Amino acid sequence: MLEDTSFAIHPGKEKRDGAITYTDIGNLVGYEKDAAGYMFNCTNGFVALQVFTDSIVRLTMNPTNKPVLDKSKAVMVRPEPVEIEEINTEHALTLKTKALVLTLQKEPFRVTVADTHGRVLVNEDGHGMAYRENGEVIAFKQMHENDHFYGFGEKSGHLDKRGEKLEMWNTDVYAPHNPETKALYESIPYFMTLRDGKAHGIFFDNTFKTYFDLQSSEAHYSFSAEGGQLDYYVLAGPHPKKVLEQYTYLTGRMPLPPKWSLGYHQSRYSYETEAEVRELAQNFIEKDIPVDVIHLDIHYMNGYRVFTFDKEKFPNPDQLIADLKEMGIRIVPIVDPGVKKDAEYPIYQEGVLGDHFCKYIEGDIYNGEVWPGVSAFPDFTEEKVRKWWGEKHAFYTSMGIEGIWNDMNEPAVFNESKTMDLEVMHRNDGHPTTHRELHNVYGLLMGQATYEGMKENLQGKRPFLLTRAGYAGVQRYGSVWTGDNRSFWEHLQMSLPMVMNLGLSGVPFTGPDVGGFAHDTNAELLTRWMQVGAFTPFFRNHSAIGFRYQEPWQFGEKYEAIMKKYIQMRYQWMPQLYSLFYQASEQGLSVMRPLLMEYPDDAKTYNLNDQFMLGDNVIFAPILNPSVTDRAVYLPKGDWVEYTTGTTYEGEQAHLVHAELEDLPIFVRKGTALMQTEWTSNQDKETKTLTMKVFASDNENYSFTFYDDDGETFAYENGEYLKMAFDIQSSADKVEINVVSKEGNYQPAYKEIRIELFCLDKTVLVNGKNSSIINL
Ligand code: GLC
Repeated sequence: MLEDTSFAIHPGKEKRDGAITYTDIGNLVGYEKDAAGYMFNCTNGFVALQVFTDSIVRLTMNPTNKPVLDKSKAVMVRPEPVEIEEINTEHALTLKTKALVLTLQKEPFRVTVADTHGRVLVNEDGHGMAYRENGEVIAFKQMHENDHFYGFGEKSGHLDKRGEKLEMWNTDVYAPHNPETKALYESIPYFMTLRDGKAHGIFFDNTFKTYFDLQSSEAHYSFSAEGGQLDYYVLAGPHPKKVLEQYTYLTGRMPLPPKWSLGYHQSRYSYETEAEVRELAQNFIEKDIPVDVIHLDIHYMNGYRVFTFDKEKFPNPDQLIADLKEMGIRIVPIVDPGVKKDAEYPIYQEGVLGDHFCKYIEGDIYNGEVWPGVSAFPDFTEEKVRKWWGEKHAFYTSMGIEGIWNDMNEPAVFNESKTMDLEVMHRNDGHPTTHRELHNVYGLLMGQATYEGMKENLQGKRPFLLTRAGYAGVQRYGSVWTGDNRSFWEHLQMSLPMVMNLGLSGVPFTGPDVGGFAHDTNAELLTRWMQVGAFTPFFRNHSAIGFRYQEPWQFGEKYEAIMKKYIQMRYQWMPQLYSLFYQASEQGLSVMRPLLMEYPDDAKTYNLNDQFMLGDNVIFAPILNPSVTDRAVYLPKGDWVEYTTGTTYEGEQAHLVHAELEDLPIFVRKGTALMQTEWTSNQDKETKTLTMKVFASDNENYSFTFYDDDGETFAYENGEYLKMAFDIQSSADKVEINVVSKEGNYQPAYKEIRIELFCLDKTVLVNGKNSSIINL
């Protein structure tokens, strides 16, 4: 307790450490080459080098043994055959691919990764790869004057992490997240460096607690881990989008989510009874406020036992789910990993009898306290356990449930350390490993078990998974919300860089609890947050027990009308949003983007925290402070049209814009287009009309891809989709729209695309003919 007072900075507590010493990897003694790559034998350890593609190289240092190269939980691919030119001189070995030049200096052993134009990406100056007796491994890299650092998964603070120290250790943080909160629920030990308009990436694939120090020295930065190998990949870029493609090539991409999961989600800890849920749903229908999902938090269960319903509070869940589905609403229940220790509870019995729970090496099951009281935790590192857990989800799918919310999967435990004992020994498919090493992947593997089990049980329908904890690669299984934020304006502000950095870390489907989870929200904050939420990839309003209810109608008609307008806008923008999700699933690109991703040459974008983009042509500049109705907006190169007012703004400068409570400033780049539909009704959300809004300019070329499918099944894998590539050329007197290609067999309800021209009076030509319609 005293640590929460000024006692924490008592002068007697200061520790003045001497210089920390590491053992350097030393000199190169010799090397071998085989099909897997190069193995360097150095005076103080071993380093393996694998070239994955022309643009991706992996280095793995092991102080004592030849590196183990096949234990990643994140990387899904093996090295491709790559042609390598090798030049061996007295002082260095040089390896060249089509994109990279790797220089391995021999004494001491130092690595420089450059591109074929001589641009150095990553180099080691005084220090290189090193380790300490306690098992810590560390890499020092030169920090260049103009380096900016992004990614690092889910982190508080600003976009650019230069000058920060960060940690990766999946942690349940209910205390208010603030700029010095180093570790949160997700661990993605990956970052992208932007230097003078060019980007490269480093993925440090180590599941122990890891540290990133971009603060202690201006000369170098470091990344280190408490144990394991120094295993990292350098990704060549050079465009930020290329880095993201390369990173998600390694760790996988998000499968196309069901369209309904892109809609509005309403949640609360908790809607406690069937009657309350029905009333909630009815309210949405009566008020014509769109909603796709209602979440059931822990109160739906019988004594917080997962895979059960409380029979008194939810007497007929099957009927509830069926009735809600008729209204266009799906139920997503929470499922935590803790299984109540209760000899009469079938899941606990199966877990014990089937040997599915985490254990100590001596054989005792690990018990920890969570919502249900003393609980056991499935050992998701074991395939048979993942399968068992996945199959159990038939309990939910048989009732018509298609989405699951995984929480507390850091795993969180109500004790001092906030998690499981570090010496718990995971079975790990025949390679027993302590929790100290696998802690950061527990949530990822629970996500895998849940996603795969749901997919199997849903027989052709796409599952939706929301998860709190994860590791690099979590995008393969689910979407992520940013945990227990608060109803603070500061948390609305912080959510922007947090979600943008998650997107740059390969996780495109994310968002915060809109309105704030803990603390009491208020009308203005909720309204402004809803405006932002309507355009963040994951859009869920969630609030905590004991705090104000924050459904869109809780603060009176004036606010309700504004929130309704923005939730409806979410649905009008769905064709645009879905095409961006498609792009994310194909290329790994984020849906919500920092401006630097599109304008890496514009230094003004490098730490622009309070604006964001959807795709490559729309900028949002929300109001993020109370009582404020004016704000500065920076617009990069190009001319920009404000979406509602139609006012044109010149790029490469800042503007002061006015936004009353009902306004959200949105800027579309001139010369580009948006795909939109109309809001119809909650019961029937099928896209019936499609409009291409063209923001014409006098001299601009723009190409983009529109994608659609049934939004629900995997039929798109067999050609049941519609994919159209368009090219738009604006000139002084006309706009020429050309359908460059059209693919797929999907037959949507709309039969044409209506063209709506904004701004100027010009002739519209579709494939060379005067027209305002594209027939499908
Ligand atoms: C955790 C979750 C929160 C949830 C609560 C009860 O705090 O982060 O979203 O509502 O547990 O399940």
